[in-house]
Amino acid sequence: MNTILETDNITRSFSGDRRTEPTHVLKGISLKVRKGEMLTIVGPSGSGKSTLLQCMSGLDAVTSGSVTIAGTAIGELNLDQTAAFRRNNIAFVFQAYNLLPAFTAFDNVALAMRMSRGSVDRAAVRSALQSVDLADVSDRRPGQLSGGQQQRVAIARALATSPHLLFADEPTGALDTEAGSRVLKLLRDYTVDGKSVVMVTHDLEAAALGDRVLVLRDGQIHGELISPSVSQVLDAVEHARRS
Ligand SMILES: Nc1ncnc2c1ncn2[C@@H]1O[C@H](COP(=O)(O)OP(=O)(O)O)[C@@H](O)[C@H]1O
Ligand SMILES: [Mg+2]
Repeated sequence: MNTILETDNITRSFSGDRRTEPTHVLKGISLKVRKGEMLTIVGPSGSGKSTLLQCMSGLDAVTSGSVTIAGTAIGELNLDQTAAFRRNNIAFVFQAYNLLPAFTAFDNVALAMRMSRGSVDRAAVRSALQSVDLADVSDRRPGQLSGGQQQRVAIARALATSPHLLFADEPTGALDTEAGSRVLKLLRDYTVDGKSVVMVTHDLEAAALGDRVLVLRDGQIHGELISPSVSQVLDAVEHARRS
């Protein structure tokens, strides 16, 4: 089986209060992520990219439809099973980093490793932090790091647990060009041994690194591009905006 993740017609709605209508954010999305693939997702702000990523990764529950990861329908797992499944299979780089404020950069990475593997390989933690150029600040807590540094800790934390599936929501949003390129290369190279990356980005150059690019618009897949150039991604996004 070449597919690591499949969504079947998923929807996600948020219920309003008595006076407001529910918001339908995802309106029936079917997609597949292949093993060893980098899939990137672009689309206008508010089109549902973050919601889609959270539903795909089991962080959020779908309203209807199903998400299957490595043969497991994750909607059928209870809370404990979902948490365990996520620990063993998935890492998520949050747009807002979500680091633990009381722990150093090193311990944020080490803790994630302990949760997913049961033990900590200190050399691997150091090497993950080194790969994002943070070796010299590994003993600082998030509050003592810049936004860009925190974002790189979040990326090191995800890479260090070595999941089959790595999700990243705007992983270069806080980074300068050089740090951004370095992170994108890490994510791109992460797929070499059959692991998969799903990345949401508004950076069209970053998106064009994907083996496949999905263009999201108003909660639906508006287009799909295979190994596109940057200008093809730009055209597709423009087309989504106009139509
Ligand atoms: N928990 C929520 N409750 C209500 N509406 C939400 C919630 N999360 C997201 N939305 C709405 O869903 C839409 C898409 O949000 P999001 O997935 O964050 O878009 P994107 O990441 O593409 O900018 C937005 O209109 C947002 O306000
Ligand atoms: Mg978003």
